[in-house]
Amino acid sequence: MTSISTIYKLSLVAVTCFIQACSSSCPVLDCWFVQEKAGRGGGLTPPTTQEKSLLYIRTDANSHNAANHQAPSDINPDRIFFITDPAATLCHHSLSPPKGSIKKPQCEISPFLQQPSTLQWVAPLTDSAFSPIYLQADWFSVALQGLNKERVISSIVRAPTGTKESNVILSVTSKTISVQARLGKPALLDCGFWVDPSSPLSGSGFAVEWRYQFRGKGRLVLAYDGKTDRVADAQEEGATLDFESLHKKRNASLILQEAKVQHSGTYICTVYLPYLLAQVVVELEIVEPPSLSIHPSPLPLIVPGQTLTVQCEASGFAPLSLELSWEFTGADGKSRPLETGSITGHRQAWDGTYSQSTRLELDTSKLDLGRGGELTCVAVHPGGTRRASTTVSVIGFSTPSIEDSMAMVGVALVLYGLIKFVSWTFTSSDYSRNDALSSTKTEVTVWPNSKIKLA
Ligand SMILES: *[C@@H]1O[C@H](CO)[C@@H](O)[C@H](O)[C@H]1NC(C)=O
Repeated sequence: MTSISTIYKLSLVAVTCFIQACSSSCPVLDCWFVQEKAGRGGGLTPPTTQEKSLLYIRTDANSHNAANHQAPSDINPDRIFFITDPAATLCHHSLSPPKGSIKKPQCEISPFLQQPSTLQWVAPLTDSAFSPIYLQADWFSVALQGLNKERVISSIVRAPTGTKESNVILSVTSKTISVQARLGKPALLDCGFWVDPSSPLSGSGFAVEWRYQFRGKGRLVLAYDGKTDRVADAQEEGATLDFESLHKKRNASLILQEAKVQHSGTYICTVYLPYLLAQVVVELEIVEPPSLSIHPSPLPLIVPGQTLTVQCEASGFAPLSLELSWEFTGADGKSRPLETGSITGHRQAWDGTYSQSTRLELDTSKLDLGRGGELTCVAVHPGGTRRASTTVSVIGFSTPSIEDSMAMVGVALVLYGLIKFVSWTFTSSDYSRNDALSSTKTEVTVWPNSKIKLA
């Protein structure tokens, strides 16, 4: 009887281990344990200490394989955490770098102080006092950034006082650490969260807040109290949440209906539970490539030796990062770069987009433009490369074609005939005139170049 039950138990353990090994690739995370130094220092930010830390992640508290790991000797045993995450948020593949990889996910764990919030859209969550015993535990906040900026995660974990077995209670994540959006198009800033359904905090509602930050200035974009289903008055125009998706799938993504240049900056998605909060940071950049125009258009015909000034204007672009250059494509189809031209300072339009231009002195005495070709203005921008072309025609310069040569021979022949005819007519009329005037001497001086000498 005992042997059977032992075999049964052993096989169960084996199967569990097998399932654990195959199904979950939950990482062991190298982390920093960060906390404020005891005793307050001066200055605005209190001094902090950093210690090496290790987080063993698992999806099931009953799996013991994590505990079997030999803890490295250089890590304080108090800084080793066993975290159970039933949602497997912390098991995302971007947190498990391939073996031998130099790049590591970023991880920071620090003590978390749970407290009620006085913010107007959060306060209703702590209206009714509930079991404060649940709060009496060790709380930590874990901040993670996966490889290749695939994901940011912020989790609040709870460990019953004195134990090292902690559980994820709240996780906030974003798939879009940095987002680029085109001007005038909708922009989506991803944010989602998960709450431990077994936590007494899970049924008490939540609140979501989006804040904007740029060069030290911050403002509220949108705040939503999920308990009373109310949006704060300060809501920014054109910013919204998908409320159905928020309640059904805990999808707190911010939707900006029409991206403007002024929307570029840092956004913070904060999710509140009663006494708890977790937040992730997302960057938005509005990227719009320029429109190009060449002046004058069309270009006037150029005579060899002449200098022509051509201007190329790039407008409506953002951010302010542009390289303008010129290219010339000859009749043979080969293109070559020309000098950069002189770039003007930038101007900013009412919508926040920029414009800038370049002026090229097209000196035909220095440049070999042949019979002409195509002049192209090239703009290299983070939003893409744009080109604009115009035709250059050089006149008075042509290598004659066969038809032209034939025509010229024809013209030459006609001219020759004409000259012959004219000279014959003149010569004969001269003779006749001289004959007529031979008697008067005075007339001779009037025709000094005449070949005919009078006796
Ligand atoms: C969240 O909601 C937005 C807006 O409706 C949607 O585009 C996005 O795909 C949703 N994300 C998830 C993970 O469901």
